[in-house]
This record gives sequence, structure tokens and C-alpha cells, in this order.
Amino acid sequence: MKQWMKYTAAAVLAAAALAGLSGCGGSSAGGSASGGKKHVAVIQIMQHGSLDAANKGVIDQLEKRGYTADKIEIDQQNAQGDQSNLKNIASRFKHAQPDVIVAISTPAAQTVANEIHDIPIVGVAITDFETAKLVKSNEKPGTNVTGVNDRGPVEEQVDMGVKFVPGAKRMGLMYCASEVNSEIQAGQARKHAADLGLEVVEATVSNVNDIQQAAESIAGEVDFIYVPTDNVIASSIPTLVKVTDAAGIPVFVGADSMARDGALGSISVDFYKTGLQAGDMTADILEGKGKPETMPVQDPADLTVIINKTNSAILGIEIPEAYKDAVLVD
Ligand code: TRP
Repeated sequence: MKQWMKYTAAAVLAAAALAGLSGCGGSSAGGSASGGKKHVAVIQIMQHGSLDAANKGVIDQLEKRGYTADKIEIDQQNAQGDQSNLKNIASRFKHAQPDVIVAISTPAAQTVANEIHDIPIVGVAITDFETAKLVKSNEKPGTNVTGVNDRGPVEEQVDMGVKFVPGAKRMGLMYCASEVNSEIQAGQARKHAADLGLEVVEATVSNVNDIQQAAESIAGEVDFIYVPTDNVIASSIPTLVKVTDAAGIPVFVGADSMARDGALGSISVDFYKTGLQAGDMTADILEGKGKPETMPVQDPADLTVIINKTNSAILGIEIPEAYKDAVLVD
């Protein structure tokens, strides 16, 4: 299965057995620096393509920096999208005192950063560290948190809608209202749509159970839908696309994984590469080469245009000339 499991199978199983049962019963799997090993604890809000890719990047880069299984213990925790699991995991990390915590996604980072102030935290797949109040500033965090942001080109993602649907007049905007990462991108998308003369019709959700109804409520009124990197919606793209396909409406998204899951297209950050960057930062901290307080938050390196050709066929929409070099997925 996942590559990291080879390091952590025991830790993950032990942790899975504890997850959801109790807040922090006894010491967490591993314990700090057992047998002279470094101890890194990873918290991820849920499983979905982008976050899994970032996670793998971190682990691969740690290995590249010499942190092989004999030198490091990696405690992988996934909250399965549940806020109370996030809190339980954060309490266990606080008790276990790892050398570094890697937090994947904004909600995961916010939960550990609220709970833990004396252990370095490296965040990855985080839209905006400053707005999420994880750091005082991106240049000089001034807290125990640093990492790599995943600021994607929201304006260009919205432009895709206009290029695929010439003459579009109304854009649907869907996201989970409690995710600050989504709020930020929604704000950008709203503004850009207005600049393009589009009317914006919004439908927010509070959890996955709302997605179908929210999509149905706007699908008949819009020419295309835009969804930012929203963790809740990303975990249920097929539910969304089932509704929009039936209505003949394309969906443009904030990340490649969401296009792989069935949305029409994205211009996406390479999440695996952001993971590699975060892995380097983690290794630097483990080696005493830096502290989050003074390590600037990094920007992602590359962008890729990605289009789901199965979805374009279902919708009967041609891929515009402007995207002829896009990566096509099924
Ligand atoms: N940007 C999101 C956050 O800050 C995390 C994320 C990265 C994401 N890639 C994604 C969410 C793709 C949904 C889909 O939490």
C-alpha cells in the first residue's frame, strides 16, 4: 500500500486502535527518540489525492536526507475528516513529544498549533499560513510553525470556466464555509469573476452530506462551477460530479487530484513537490539547522494544467486550444 507503511505499520496500527477511543491514554506509539532515533509525527486531516501526495513527498525527502527506517520513527495519523479525531491526535502528539510534527492541510495544522507551542510544526498543503493564524508573517513566522503553502492560481482556474464555456454568464461557487483555506480562495474567485463580468451563485456546505443538495440547488442556474482546494468537497468529488454531469455543467477545481476524481480541469500545484520541500524543512529542523520561528514559509514551485478527458467527453465539451498542452487524465 502506501510507501510510508513500511516504516510505520506498527505505529499506525497501534494508533488506529486508539483513534476515536480515548483522548490520550498513555504514551503514543514510538515515544521520543527511542533508541536514539528521531521521532516525527504526521497529522493529516483525511485521505485524498493531493494530501496523500504531499505526505509521500515529505517521507521520500526525509529518506533522501538519510532518515531511513533505522534512524527515524514516523507516526502517521489520519483523522478521517473528523474534527474530534484531529483533537485526539493532537493531544497524543503533545504527550508523545516528537522532535517535529508535520501537519497536512489547514485544519490539521490549526488543531496541532492550537494545542502545541513547544514542538516545531512543519505545515504542508496549507493555503495561507498567515490568514490561518499559524504564523505572524510568512517571511518570519515568529511561532513554532513554518512550512510550504499551496497557493494555486485561483484567477487562472476561474478563467478555465470562461475558456471552456464561451459566453458564460454565471459561475457557481461551492466550498465548506468552516475552512479558512476555502474562504480565502472563494474571496479571490468572487472578485475575479466580478472582474470578468460573471454573476456568482454560491452554495456552501458544512459536511459531505450537504454536497449533493448544494450542487442540485445551483446546477440549473450556472454555466460552470468553481471549487477551491476544499477538504470536505475534495473528499466527495464523485458525488458532486454526478449531479453536475446530469445537468451538463463543467466543474473547475483548485487541485489536480480533484480533476483525477472526475472534475473537468484545474491548474494545479504539484503537491508531491511541496511535500519534498516540507521534507527538507523537516530534516533541517531535525539537524538543528533552523527553527520555525525564523524559517520563512515557502511557495510551491510548479503548476500543471490538468484536464479530465472522460469528463470532457461526458459533457461533450471540446478542450480549448489554450489548453492543448494540458496533462490529460481519464
Ligand atoms: N489547501 C487545503 C488546505 O489548506 C489543502 C489541500 C491541498 C486540498 N490540496 C487539496 C484540499 C485538494 C482539497 C483538495 O487545507
